[in-house]
Order: sequence, then structure tokens, then C-alpha cells
Amino acid sequence: MFATPFLDLPPLTAACGTVQLPGSKSISNRVLLLAALSQGTTEVHDLLASDDTRVMLDALRQLGCGVDERGNGLVHITGLGGAKPRSPAKLFMGNAGTAIRPLTAALALLGGEYELSGVPRMHERPIGDLVEALRQLGCQIEYLGNDGYPPLRIQHGAGLPALRLQEPIRVRGDVSSQFLTALLMALPLVAQKQDLAIEVVGELISKPYIHITLELLARFGIAVRHENWQRFTIPAGSRYQSPGSIHVEADASSASYFIALGAIAAGAGGQNGIKILGVGLDSIQGDIRFVEAARAMGARVEGGPNWLQIERGSWPLKAIELDCNHIPDAAMTLAVMALYAEGTTTLTNIASWRVKETDRLAAMAIELRKLGAGVEEGADYLRVTPPASTADWRPASIHTYDDHRVAMCFSLAAFNPAGLPERIEDPKCVAKTFPDYFETLFAVARADAAAIPVICIDGPTASGKGTVAAAVAQQLGYHFLDSGALYRITALAAVQAGLTISAENEASIAKLARQLPVQFEGGRVWLAQAEVTDAIRTEEAGMNASRVSALPLVRKALIALQHGFRRLPGLVADGRDMGTVIFPSAPLKVFLTASAECRAQRRYKQLISKGISARISDLRADLEARDARDQSRVVAPLVPAQDALQLDSSALTASEAAAQVLGWWQAHRPFS
Ligand code: DC
Repeated sequence: MFATPFLDLPPLTAACGTVQLPGSKSISNRVLLLAALSQGTTEVHDLLASDDTRVMLDALRQLGCGVDERGNGLVHITGLGGAKPRSPAKLFMGNAGTAIRPLTAALALLGGEYELSGVPRMHERPIGDLVEALRQLGCQIEYLGNDGYPPLRIQHGAGLPALRLQEPIRVRGDVSSQFLTALLMALPLVAQKQDLAIEVVGELISKPYIHITLELLARFGIAVRHENWQRFTIPAGSRYQSPGSIHVEADASSASYFIALGAIAAGAGGQNGIKILGVGLDSIQGDIRFVEAARAMGARVEGGPNWLQIERGSWPLKAIELDCNHIPDAAMTLAVMALYAEGTTTLTNIASWRVKETDRLAAMAIELRKLGAGVEEGADYLRVTPPASTADWRPASIHTYDDHRVAMCFSLAAFNPAGLPERIEDPKCVAKTFPDYFETLFAVARADAAAIPVICIDGPTASGKGTVAAAVAQQLGYHFLDSGALYRITALAAVQAGLTISAENEASIAKLARQLPVQFEGGRVWLAQAEVTDAIRTEEAGMNASRVSALPLVRKALIALQHGFRRLPGLVADGRDMGTVIFPSAPLKVFLTASAECRAQRRYKQLISKGISARISDLRADLEARDARDQSRVVAPLVPAQDALQLDSSALTASEAAAQVLGWWQAHRPFS
């Protein structure tokens, strides 16, 4: 996951490959609650790991359900099976509408004392219609903040609420279908002696989500009948029964980004398409009908029971006019696809966007305009006209409103024909449903290598460039190349192979360097099967590295390996010749220095902290010898690139130096 303040996407050009999508949020949280209300233990497979399911799992645990997380998406839930939940309890629901709404309904009917609250945005998301319906039944619920919104308190003391079950329960269907879903999942708990009826007031929006609810209720033993989506009947004698084991389908809304990706970029340039695993054309999720909309815009989509295959069909895409009531979440993806269509695309019947994670109608309009599109925002529709020509596209910094879908759908604007980079603010908001979204995108998206940004930080030994480069890489979510480590590893491999580091062995050492079985992972380094993180950091290893790095054939042998680090979304490379030889066209080059005295002090402190004794004067002599060798060697001597910015870090901490580099980088970016 990218936990950086922003993520810059270089211009992307094509896409191909296979993606395995995470489990659906809607199905995950429904299954968790149904399992928690059932008799018996349910093995839940392929559960989505996300903020919203985390909130639900924590709440269920607090309420006394058995929650056994086995890893890899497998969770065993042992349900209450008629027992009362643990009470009193204060439940934090984050920003998970799929958790707070059904839990409120279930807890209100089960009795006890509970407080349910969430993040500030959750306290702006309506729940009044559900609370009204539950109050009709006789449940006691009060608002702790604003009327009609969380936080709320359910209060029944020790006893069970006396419920009025004879009359049909009336609930509004035109604000959020989650209110109806909440009642459908809660009422079977009290449908013992008589059928219970729910009547929907106003037109029911998002019917596909109700379809998911009904399908899953059936899996847990509850057969709900409905008449035209207006009247629902829960039969007398309903009792939740665990199905034993259940698989969560991959999220069809998440699939929309990769279907769009295929439509925009797969097959372009004669490559193969995008294959999606985990969800297929037979999905129970309404958003699978995004496929029809994508086809209408020109995508070529095939599919089977658990897979989809997408290629670009018509190009540019075709503008459409579509009532999106049946695919509210996935329709946001259409709004971004509209940027690549010929003409104006109109998405109607999307008023529900206004009460989602953010006011999505306003958000989409504002952000699409930033890219240069013409946008008309109606009360319940959106009209998008692409930038008139390539020159009318703008490099935009996309604000994401703590809304995962805004972040994900806007990433597709990185395929803009103008070849502009794009910034996604707060990329970690995708964690709500798809924590690894950007990693998954980068695994199948292609960019011209020259367009993938590289920041070079060169300088003499102990100038602090390793620490600074790693900090800059972390702040930007970029890859990190410690090229010195490659010379250190090569020297170690040579010593281990019994080769003296000298000109006579140059060809043999170069051969070793070309096939270096090296692996970097989270600051640790492996050579073949052995971890060498510490072994390559000794003073002796540094000296050997300096010797080995003076051999021209060795330097040449390591070039391809170093170029291979230039991957999406970008790279920070530290060394001696990053800016002069390896990445001469890098957009930002920094030459980091510090006085010899200062560098000797830093090295001294480092060694002492590791319990290694040393003398400052010796260290200083050593590093001056190393500087002399690195500067005087014939190939790639240590010199600042002509266009490098010099940074003397003698009086700076590593984080101050990193902040300076980041400042220079920001000034370089086209985003205001
Ligand atoms: O940065 P370092 O101390 O880990 O580097 C070890 C040696 O490798 C250093 O003495 C010079 C050499 N080196 C190089 O020649 N070119 C690079 N890009 C990086 C390191």
C-alpha cells in the first residue's frame, strides 16, 4: 500500500497481463454479519482485507462472536446463534456504511446497550430513515450528535424490546438501499411466530445490492420473497444457519477499473489483453453490468464463471448516455472513460453519489475539470466532454476526498494522450476496498522507460546519501536503488569465490556481477540464499567495493541490473555515477557532499552505535583514500553531473537534507 501524502503517476501507454482482484466489500461485510448471527461456525474464504472489514471484524469480536483470522483471506466466524451479544459496548465503525447500518438494525432488535460512532464523514452520512423504521417497530435509538446521523445509542437495558411486528415495516428506498439491506438482515432474528413484511416507500435505488443481500440470505437459510422490489416478506420460523463454508466473490466494482484499463490500453500496440480473475459474467453483484456499459463504449469483453478478458475495441471510445441507477459505484469509472470518448457522455440517475464516502457528483465534476474536461454537474446527472485536443489536457493533482473510488478511477487518466503525469493525493484511501490497487495497476500498466522519473543522489562515501535517498524514496512511494550495495555484493561474491580483487581477475569478477543472484527486500539484502545485509556494511567490504568498482568490465556488467530498477511509479537512485552514467537523462540530480571531518564523525558514530571501536583519524584517512580512488579512476569517476544541484549536508540532519531534495523535486513537477 502507498501510505505517502501523494502518488505521482507517470504517463502510461499500454496495459496487459492478469490481475487477481480482492474480495467484494459488500459481500464480505454481509457474510461476516450473517455468519455472526448464525448458529455454528462459518469458514469464510477470500474475505477482503480492508478498513471496512476490519471495522466489522473488530465489532463482532467486541460483541462476543468467535473471530479466528487464519490469514490469506480465511476467517472462521462462530456465530451468536440466538445468544445475546455482549453489552454494553461502544463500537467504532470508521467510515463503513456496510457495517454501521446492518449492525444498528441487528443490535436494536437483539436488545442491550450500544453506542455506534465513526469518523467525521460517517457522522455526515444519513441513517435517519433506518432509525425511523426501527423506531416504528419499538426499538429505542437516540442520536448522540445531529438528528438523522451517527453517532447513535441503542438502549434497551437488560430486557428485549417489545416489538410491534403486525404492521408492515415501512422504509424509504430512495436514499440508500443499505437501509433495506439492514432490515432484511436483521428481521429474520425476530421472525419466529409470523411472517414479517417490509414495504419500500419511494422508488428503490440500487436494486442490485438488494439482490446480493437476498442471494446471501438464502445461503444462510433465509428465503425472502418479494413483489416487484416494493414489498418483501420474511417467512415465519426463519432461523440463521451457517452454510459451513462460503467463498467471497471478487469485487465487481473493483473489476471496473481493470475493465476500463483493458478498454483504454490493452491490445494497443499489438499486445494482449487484460485478464481478471475472481469474478466473472455470472457474478451475483450488480456492478458486473458495468461490462455492458464498457462494451457500449467500445470495450471488447469476454468472460466465464470466474474470469473476464478485456481488449480495446473501438478507439477512441464511444460516448454514451446511460441511466446508471443499476451500477452506481462502477459508473464513476465511466465518467473517467468518457475522457477518451468521442463526444459527450451523460450519466443519469446518480443522485445517490451525493451521500456516498463524499459527494461524488461534486467531486467527479471538480476533478474532471482539473484535467481539462468540460463537465456539467446536475442534481442527479453528470455530463463529461473530453479535452478538445491533446494540448487542452492539464497535469492535475487529484484530490481524493478520502474516497477510494475517486482515487482508483482517476488513476486511469494517466493514459492521457498528452503524455502528462498525474498526481493522486492520499493514495492510501484505496485501502477501503483495495489496499494493493496501485501495485496491481503497476503490475499490468506500461510506461515508456524514459517517462518513469528517476531522482539521482550521488556523492562521496558517508555523505549521508543512502539515508537521504531512502527517505526521499519512501516519501514519494518510489523504488530505491542503493547502487553501492551492488559493488559491495559483487566484491563479497568475488571474495567468496576465492578471487583476489585485481585487474587480472577483472573478467571473472565481471562474469559474477552479470549473474549476481541478489535480492532486496525492505532494507535487507540477500546473495543467493544467504542474507548479507550486515556483511556488506563493514569497512573492509567498503574498501573491497571501492576496488571492484574501479574495474571497467565490472561497471559495465552492472548497468543492465541498475536500469532494471527504473520501474513504475519511479526511482530514487544513490551512488557515484547515477547522474553521470547510469541515468544521464534523470530529471533531478543531486550531488550530496559533506566535509571530510563531518563524514568521519558520522561514520564514527555509526560504528560506535554498533559496538565497533574505531578512531576518527583512521576513519578520516580511510575515507579520503576512498574519495581519491573513486575520483581518479578512469571509468565513471566520482564527479557531479553538470546539471546536478549541489547540497552540502555538513550542517543538516538527514531529514533536513531529504526535505531539501523533496522541495527541489516538487518545484520540478508540473502540479501547482
Ligand atoms: O556508497 P557505498 O559506500 O556503498 O559504495 C561502495 C563503493 O562502491 C564506493 O567506494 C564506490 C563504489 N560505487 C561506485 O563506484 N559507483 C556507484 N554508483 C556506487 C558505488
